[in-house]
Amino acid sequence: MTDAAHPSNEPMRSIDPADSDPQATYYLLNSVVVPRPIAWVSTLAADGTANLAPHSFCTVAGTQPPTLAFTSIGEKHTVANVRATGDFVFHVVDYAITERMNITAANAPADVSEFELAGLEQTASAKVRSPRVVGAPVAMECVLDRIIDVGHSRMVLGTVVQLHIAERLFDERDRVDPGRLDAVARMGGATYATTRDRFDLTRPSYDDLRVDPATAAD
Ligand SMILES: Cc1cc2nc3c(=O)[nH]c(=O)nc-3n(C[C@H](O)[C@H](O)[C@H](O)COP(=O)(O)O)c2cc1C
Repeated sequence: MTDAAHPSNEPMRSIDPADSDPQATYYLLNSVVVPRPIAWVSTLAADGTANLAPHSFCTVAGTQPPTLAFTSIGEKHTVANVRATGDFVFHVVDYAITERMNITAANAPADVSEFELAGLEQTASAKVRSPRVVGAPVAMECVLDRIIDVGHSRMVLGTVVQLHIAERLFDERDRVDPGRLDAVARMGGATYATTRDRFDLTRPSYDDLRVDPATAAD
């Protein structure tokens, strides 16, 4: 594809991570793989301290069984807690709670609960030991499936055993309305994006693509 915005001779910067400072490569990945949803992950430490931390390296990892994944860069408290209890809760962050989410990213000691630090209320989960955040629009209780070592990072996969979704998010067809969810996403650095500017794109079938435009009107 070439056009005015994407000329075929566009100068490209080619970078070999093997020749680069790992931190610089990390910043690059963080800036170009965007926007990323934010998994606001709550866990419980072995001593009973509740923990809460955002992870934008996250995704849906599978559907049958429903599986979520997030990555801890290095082995942080969240991973130690998941190892201890075998579970976590993955919350979705909406615009209204973004600033509180940000507070929970502070590098608090293991015996300090980020729930208290950010003035957040916690409540018991239905099926896992990790508590969930009161006020988060979506909370998904997960049982640890596996932890994958990815170099010095740890990718945590969990099977969703219970979902909690605010009633106000559902439309008349019982689908979650993205406008009501108002999820935020992480861009590079300290920049975030809302999900307020949206558009629809209908996915074509292969047959649609084979229709000759010249005869399509016939
Ligand atoms: C929006 C946002 C996204 C973040 N994403 C990640 C991430 O994907 N992985 C990670 O290790 N740290 C991430 N962090 C930093 C952690 O939240 C931070 O290191 C936190 O203190 C980890 O807490 P813990 O030690 O209790 O696990 C993110 C921070 C913010 C503000």
